[in-house]
Amino acid sequence: MMDQEKISQLSDIAKAMVAPGKGILAADESMNTVGKRFASINLENTEDNRRAFREMLLTAPGEEQYISGVILFDETIRQRTSGGKSFVEVLRAGGILPGIKVDQGLVSFNGSEVEKITKGLDGLGDRLKEYVALGAKFAKWRAVITISDSTPTPENIVQNTADLAQYALLCQQAGLVPMVEPEVLLDGNHSLQKSTEVLEQTLISLIAELKKAGVALEGTILKSSMAISGKNSGVKDTPAQVAEATIGVFKKVLPKELAGVVFLSGGQSELQATENLNAMHQLGQLPWPVTFSYARALQDGATKTWKGNPDNLLAAQRVFLHRAKMNSLASQGKYQPDMEQGFSAAAGGAATQD
Ligand code: G3H
Repeated sequence: MMDQEKISQLSDIAKAMVAPGKGILAADESMNTVGKRFASINLENTEDNRRAFREMLLTAPGEEQYISGVILFDETIRQRTSGGKSFVEVLRAGGILPGIKVDQGLVSFNGSEVEKITKGLDGLGDRLKEYVALGAKFAKWRAVITISDSTPTPENIVQNTADLAQYALLCQQAGLVPMVEPEVLLDGNHSLQKSTEVLEQTLISLIAELKKAGVALEGTILKSSMAISGKNSGVKDTPAQVAEATIGVFKKVLPKELAGVVFLSGGQSELQATENLNAMHQLGQLPWPVTFSYARALQDGATKTWKGNPDNLLAAQRVFLHRAKMNSLASQGKYQPDMEQGFSAAAGGAATQD
């Protein structure tokens, strides 16, 4: 059992992560995933280019109006800007909470060609201590649930959610707010209804495992996917459909004590991710703060504008700030499509993430 003082410290951090009008930038792509992003702009995947890329995002002036926290990758939490300041100092100076991805990627589950589990529990306690010393305030662990004709299996859901709970408990013991992310993948040709059912089964199992492990929900942030038709289904759900299905599941299965919910974008385009979040807030007052924690849906347009060229830095930051502002408005239900005028948001969003 955790003492009350520790729980209240975790709860304060969690509240700041989902403060009204703010959301989280996920900038924690693995080396491999950054490589894919850079390939799309013909940029070499070197340490210095990754540093410059993160500097573009993390030093965008005024981003603290929209961004409460940033999820960093192990390399980035140790890096410095070209001016010599550590990225952690840069974030702290803007009142932004540094977070850290602590999972170590995916491996096959029980020899399956489809289902995965997430690596990283071995030695996690020691790694968390180091990240706390480096200034992290919260952590992220991503598990994936795959929808196909034969999946997800109940065993895969249980294993992934039990691992998430074990990670979350270790985080809280170390003084970090756990962001627990069971991502129901968008890949596939499944229906909105199937996605909704799998989201519900996954979250039921997650909450049960968190409770069983003794994780304090008031010091925990759920990072969820939206209930949405599969990428290859040929169906484009309206924002109202996505919002009703997603919030319907949340209201059914999430306890009120949970500190908040943030969304991943999961391969949705920038505009789709903003419109869907906005629609959630058109449904009236929600029982928890609900906001964004996007990677691709915050970064795509800025990345394409930047292209690795220092001359494009300010233009790229402008694109990034616009996207962050649109999502901030969406997190309050105040977004309108005509606010995009003058900005052409990236249409894509099909790249993969880990
Ligand atoms: O773990 C997933 C990322 O934090 C969110 O990435 O918004 O590109 O899906 P995404």
